[in-house]
Amino acid sequence: MINIAIDGPAGAGKSTIARKLAANLGYIYVDTGALYRAVGVNAMRNGADTKNAEQVTATLSSAKVSLRFVEGEQRVFLGEEDVSLAIRTPEASMAASNVSAIPAVREFLFDLQRDIAKANNCIMDGRDIGTVVLPEAQVKVFLTASAEVRAKRRYDELLAKGMEADYNQVLEEMVQRDYQDSHRAIAPLKQADDATLLDTSEMNLEQVLEALETIVKEKI
Ligand code: DC
Repeated sequence: MINIAIDGPAGAGKSTIARKLAANLGYIYVDTGALYRAVGVNAMRNGADTKNAEQVTATLSSAKVSLRFVEGEQRVFLGEEDVSLAIRTPEASMAASNVSAIPAVREFLFDLQRDIAKANNCIMDGRDIGTVVLPEAQVKVFLTASAEVRAKRRYDELLAKGMEADYNQVLEEMVQRDYQDSHRAIAPLKQADDATLLDTSEMNLEQVLEALETIVKEKI
């Protein structure tokens, strides 16, 4: 199977780009952040403090997280509940970042991600795909952009979804989440040694997609 790993900080455009590239290539797109978000939401619903490893770990037995692909589109389930929308709030973002620093949570989600990659040609995005989950991926890209550009993109995205948002708050939360994600002890956000760096601060969607397709053609 061909696996393409895309890592990078929040709001770098990973999901938008990976989804389009996957559609062009006929691969499935796997958004691993959604798994951490689902675990975070499940922990919150069970009254756990998402920074407390012991409390969060105790909620894992009730976290029946699964991914289903409907017409190539990923949906995230907690048991039989489709939580694909519920995991997109700012609270769920922070809860995901908090629980993702807990080793038991990463272990809990590891096989799920590996199994999908073993069975499918896929583009998987996250923070540790090229470094930990799929170190043997044929293509690895580290997608980034300045914090201001990423915050503006995320802010526009929230407004487009009809959610309320404040740009400065989005920026602040993003910077905090990036710091947490890149400074945790286990599987921190970082560029794999053999990943190609793509800074999209000054690029539009078409340019990023074109650059990515060139990288993929070179490697496969
Ligand atoms: O990609 P996202 O913003 O939906 O991810 C939410 C959080 O999940 C992110 O702040 C860190 C964590 N995460 C992770 O630790 N490892 C991944 N492979 C994907 C996400």
